[in-house]
Amino acid sequence: MARANAVITGWGFYAPSRVMTNADLEKIVETSDQWITERTGIKERRIAAPDESTSTMATKAAERALAKAKLKPSDVELVIVGTASPDFVFPPVASLVQAALGATRAGAFDVGAACTSFVSSLAVASGMILGGAVRNALVIGAETLSRIVDWKDRGTCVLFGDGAGAVVLEASSASVGVQSTVLHGDGTKCDLLWVPGGGTKNPTGAEKLEARMHYIRMNGNEVYRSAVKAMAEAAEEAIAKANLTADDITLFVPHQANLRIIEGVAKRMRFPMERVFVNVQRYGNTSAASVPIALCEAVEAGRLKRGDKVLVAAFGAGFTWGASVLEWFGEHEGPRQKSPLDIASRAIEDLVDRVRPA
Ligand code: ACO
Repeated sequence: MARANAVITGWGFYAPSRVMTNADLEKIVETSDQWITERTGIKERRIAAPDESTSTMATKAAERALAKAKLKPSDVELVIVGTASPDFVFPPVASLVQAALGATRAGAFDVGAACTSFVSSLAVASGMILGGAVRNALVIGAETLSRIVDWKDRGTCVLFGDGAGAVVLEASSASVGVQSTVLHGDGTKCDLLWVPGGGTKNPTGAEKLEARMHYIRMNGNEVYRSAVKAMAEAAEEAIAKANLTADDITLFVPHQANLRIIEGVAKRMRFPMERVFVNVQRYGNTSAASVPIALCEAVEAGRLKRGDKVLVAAFGAGFTWGASVLEWFGEHEGPRQKSPLDIASRAIEDLVDRVRPA
């Protein structure tokens, strides 16, 4: 039997409708459109409505990805949500999404690697598909960072935004798919970018709230330097692992942290900016959601066609970082092949449903 590949057959994203511009931020903290634009390239970001949360946005993105893949929720075997801003400490966001979708046959768990969470989730899902554990997975990156940002800290609140992106990853006998994955970390840098309160180390309490420990804290300069070096090195490693060179990469979709980081990575790799996808100016840094949102917009803009090689890379708190090279598959055409075991198990499930008393 031909070796299976893990291919993306569906994609979708959701961004909340409320737009917060740099001019809006000027009314909240002492900052300016000029400072934010020059330092980050960000012009506006989306902010979740009060009735929205990470799981509701993740669900909307997932529904769009499933529609594109022409799969029913009941076909989904695994839901993974990469996030640093879950609805609750537990249950996982993936469980809330699974329920909202009606993906009754799917396993569900979250991956927590901050801004690297989507790339890490993709690595886990493709590993499970290549290992034969599941035949498909919904891989989602979703964040409501506006709820954990300190709106009194101009050094961080101007950077982040909310949103969700999702892909459907499927086993396929096609020759395209995930070609390489690399993941790295340096846990000695934990306190350079973190939310110190609200977990089990510094549980929520009046004192911790007073000290604003439940909000994001960051040493921007250190993060900047580390992010550029780490993302560039991981990207080069992923390209080499796929037996390719940078010239073979059709499009580079990096984590949309800020324009200076993206340009710094491209410069370090000697990779032309014309082949780098950038949408940070419209969404800010949406952490785990940034790569899948950018990937969706890149496809919708016609920047990827079947057989093109796309490089994704991310860096985030931990520090964590990673990259992956995928050969683009695109929309699935024609009926999916079902294994005899699948056909038999579906028939038994249908029979049980029919004979079960209401
Ligand atoms: N508006 C106006 N002035 C500001 C603002 C603001 N929003 N924020 C900081 N400043 C001031 C500082 O107080 C400082 O003033 P001072 O010189 O009087 O002390 C001055 O601007 C310079 O501050 P720096 O922190 O040195 O500014 P820098 O040029 O390093 O830019 C930035 C800061 C944009 C945060 C940069 O360090 C950066 O991009 N870091 C990466 C952070 C990032 O992207 N993190 C996201 C999470 S990790 C990831 O996704 C990769």
